[in-house]
Amino acid sequence: MKTVDIDRRSFIAKLGGAAAVLATAPELLAEKLEDEMIRKLENSSQPAPPIQQEISERTNRRGTGRIFTDTKELVPLPDKPTLVDFYKDRFNSSRHGLQSANHALETGQPERTIFACLVHDVVQGLVRSDHGYWGAALFAPYVDERISWGIRYHQALRFYPDDEVGYAYPELYNRIFGKDYEVEDYIKRDYKMVRNHKWYMESRLITVNDQYGFVEGYEPSVEPFIDIIGRQFKQPKEGLGYDNSPSAHMWRTFQNPERPL
Ligand SMILES: [Fe+2]
Ligand SMILES: [Fe+2]
Repeated sequence: MKTVDIDRRSFIAKLGGAAAVLATAPELLAEKLEDEMIRKLENSSQPAPPIQQEISERTNRRGTGRIFTDTKELVPLPDKPTLVDFYKDRFNSSRHGLQSANHALETGQPERTIFACLVHDVVQGLVRSDHGYWGAALFAPYVDERISWGIRYHQALRFYPDDEVGYAYPELYNRIFGKDYEVEDYIKRDYKMVRNHKWYMESRLITVNDQYGFVEGYEPSVEPFIDIIGRQFKQPKEGLGYDNSPSAHMWRTFQNPERPL
């Protein structure tokens, strides 16, 4: 099993060198790293723009997800699109989600966790900064509250080990960011709250399975998860984007990122 590896020197060079790394907020560095790993995993034909250039010349903030920056043609979705349609034709972290969910499935974890793993990073197609919080907002209208809660806080838990469940602080973070890497205050605050919360494991298990979601050359299919999606996701009869839910606009944007209004 070969896991996606990131070369420290070339990654830091892409970030604009050691000085740029020091000047970048820790949470954004972690997002950059995750984006780089997912790009590598998904074999994206479109390489990330050179980060140094992105920092010095970009005209957008970090909200811009890959649905906007990848220019490959998008296949049209049906009139009443379902989560599976989006999964197949819009989300760009599908392989990572499927591998994570597959690990949860094979190790007999709760179905809620399997579903959460499947979708925990998909919002990164829209927004990369604070993706746990955005991802929770995208799914909240359609899932058990424990699922969106878990997605919300996996972002913070990634930085905190839990030996009891086999989650170590990612060695990659040490290698890339150095040993003295420190997260921002809101991440520390949320971690403290989550650590003592009765739903802690809803979020923790996402980070556990996340570690198994970067295997090169392994492409699981969404088919074994169709029934789980059916049970865990309340598909709106009008189609995602057209049900007037609090996140309907996000689904519409995924569907058509070219929409002028
Ligand atoms: Fe994530
Ligand atoms: Fe992930």
